[in-house]
This record gives sequence, structure tokens and C-alpha cells, in this order.
Amino acid sequence: MSVLTTMQQHTPGWAPRIAVVLGSGWGSLTEHLSHAVQIPYTELEGFPQPTVAGHSATLWLGNLGTQPVAVMSGRKHGYETGAVDGMAKPLKMLKELGCHTLVQTNAAGSVRTDMPPQSLMLLHDHLNLPQRSPLVGLSGSDRFVNMVDAYDPALRAHARHTAQAKGVMLFEGTYAWFLGPQFETPAEIRMAQRLGADAVGMSTVPETILARHLGLRVLALSFITNFGAGMSTEQLSHAHTLQQAQEGSAKASQLLADIIAHLP
Ligand code: HPA
Repeated sequence: MSVLTTMQQHTPGWAPRIAVVLGSGWGSLTEHLSHAVQIPYTELEGFPQPTVAGHSATLWLGNLGTQPVAVMSGRKHGYETGAVDGMAKPLKMLKELGCHTLVQTNAAGSVRTDMPPQSLMLLHDHLNLPQRSPLVGLSGSDRFVNMVDAYDPALRAHARHTAQAKGVMLFEGTYAWFLGPQFETPAEIRMAQRLGADAVGMSTVPETILARHLGLRVLALSFITNFGAGMSTEQLSHAHTLQQAQEGSAKASQLLADIIAHLP
């Protein structure tokens, strides 16, 4: 079934305005959707067929409050194939369907001693440490995307206000992208700290670049599952990330639903 056919099953004239990417720990957001329909990525040309355990591959269409949203549960990561443009087609399609904003979520490691596991962090900027871009190979002068305020200041202010109103602690900081899939070394975590990072992770940055190229506003949130390598005695693993993400999922998704339902 195509996205267009499925959209026609909603009320006439329904079209998503906000695209959402769910990372580990944010899956419960779909429980907040009303009038939701699901389309497996296998039925959507150009959508990724994720290979990571714990990551699903479904597009959800529905409403959060009065906002029509398209929620991508499952993303393509650079570490899967080495290509970093795996989300180019889905984002382009969602823009063509009517989305003007991309809300991204991820699981991340904290490199700040005062931001423990189970924290939530709003991204105010990022470090593209691999210096890889999903725009390489494109032509035209619009590929020279301005990355100042890539994480929209008005949307960030709205997220901060929502968290404050709901009594949820929300950190704000810089996300450093590592390609992965291996976790960082302790030396790399010390490097990230010195470069001004607050959190580290293996996603989000390519999609932010793609979204800014498409002219979409971007808001992004990290769920902190662990301290960076070498900062604590805990053993980092994908299973540990998923387990931590699962524990905090309800709180994170509730805040996200509240933020999106009243997004300006
Ligand atoms: N490093 C990179 N990616 C991650 C981490 C981490 O410590 N935790 C969750 N995703």
C-alpha cells in the first residue's frame, strides 16, 4: 500500500505536517497517536529495511493532539552500510506529503558527569566528527547548507517550556556523532569532552543535514542510556542501551508527545 492510499483512508485532506524519527527508547510515542495506521517499510519504496535488533521498520500515520504526524519507527544508520544518505528518500517523500518539521530522537551516551543515564537532552548543536555528509554528490548551490541554528531556536524554546511546565528535567547540549558501530574508546570520549560535546551517539546528524537541505525545521532529543566509555564501570553493549532505553521509554515519550502536540 502506498503512503498516498493510506493517507486517503484518513479523513479527506489529511496530510502529515510533522515527521518524527524514533530512536531506541522512544517507541512508546506511537501509543499516544490517535487514528493511527501503520505501513511496514517493506511496502514503502526507498524506506530502509533496518538490520538492528530492537529497531523496528514501520511508518505510522496519525495525530498527536491536533497535529498530523508521520512517525518513522526505524532509521538507517551510517554504520550499517557505510552510506550516510539512507534516510534521504524517506525524508524527501515526507516533505512532499506536506511535512515542514522533522523531530528526531535517539539514544546517546553522556560525556557530562552531571547528566546521568535516564536523562533527557535537547540538542542545540552537533559535531559531525566523521565529517561525512549525505549531500556529497549532489549538484546545485543549495547543497551548501547553512548549519547555524540547524536545531530550530523557536522549537527548542517550545521544548524547554513544555518540559518546565510538565516538571521534567531537560538538559540541552551538543551531540557528537560517531559513525560506529563500535562504541567509543575512553580517549575518544575525552576528546569529545574537550571539543565541547555533551553527548555522543551514532545517528541523527545525517538526517539533520538532509532535513536542512530540504528546508525542514529540526528539533532533536536524546535519551541518555549510559555514561561515555571509561567514565563509569558499566559495560557498554547494545543490550544495555536497549534495556536502559526501555526503562525510560514512558517518560521520554510522554514529554515528546506533549512537545509535538503543541508545536508552534
Ligand atoms: N556511544 C555511542 N552511541 C550510543 C551510546 C554511546 O555511549 N549510548 C547509546 N548510543
